[in-house]
Amino acid sequence: MTNIILETIVNRRSTRKFTEATPEKEALELVVKAGRYAPSGGNSQSCHFVVITNREVLDSLKAAVKHEFSLMTSDENTYKSIANSIRLSKKGTYDFIYNAPVLIIVTNKKGYGNAMADSSCALMNMMLAADSIGLGSCWINQLHWLDDNSAVRELLLKLGIDDDETVCGSLALGYPSVDKAAPLERTGNQVDYIE
Ligand SMILES: Cc1cc2nc3c(=O)[nH]c(=O)nc-3n(C[C@H](O)[C@H](O)[C@H](O)COP(=O)(O)O)c2cc1C
Repeated sequence: MTNIILETIVNRRSTRKFTEATPEKEALELVVKAGRYAPSGGNSQSCHFVVITNREVLDSLKAAVKHEFSLMTSDENTYKSIANSIRLSKKGTYDFIYNAPVLIIVTNKKGYGNAMADSSCALMNMMLAADSIGLGSCWINQLHWLDDNSAVRELLLKLGIDDDETVCGSLALGYPSVDKAAPLERTGNQVDYIE
């Protein structure tokens, strides 16, 4: 049986190498629509999607993220992806969105209990929609980690993200510049059927 949704779910991979081309507005709108049509707790629909294609804005965010991580220290207890962000930022080579031409930031209301759950549903819908129309995407967590960082927050405020919003996640998006890798076998995620 061919089922396009199940195939898309299994074949989607995170993309970390992009061409320079910015996807057409119509393609971005399809991806965002998929995010907006995600379910939300109590039908709250309180996600806020900020779709950035402006190169100067992307560059200023990258510079701020790199600078703020370069000021941090890590030790053996630091989450490995954060330690990696710090290490590459100190080296000066860090691009937290892998040179993607588009970044979609997803925020939600601070203090709302389903903020992360609703936003994750939206991000997942967008990843699948992107894959289904030939775009590549990767969840990007750095702005979530820097949610309380004042320098980054100042930039986000200028993009229309209010102080009462928390950054739940973001998506690097664009055309992949390399062939998609094979589906990643899942060996974790325990399943028990109680019959
Ligand atoms: C909550 C979450 C946070 C993630 N954060 C990052 C990130 O900051 N940078 C990154 O390159 N990938 C990130 N990823 C992507 C994962 O590394 C990736 O989904 C995982 O390795 C499985 O690979 P696949 O997406 O190709 O199936 C994140 C994924 C999730 C679900």
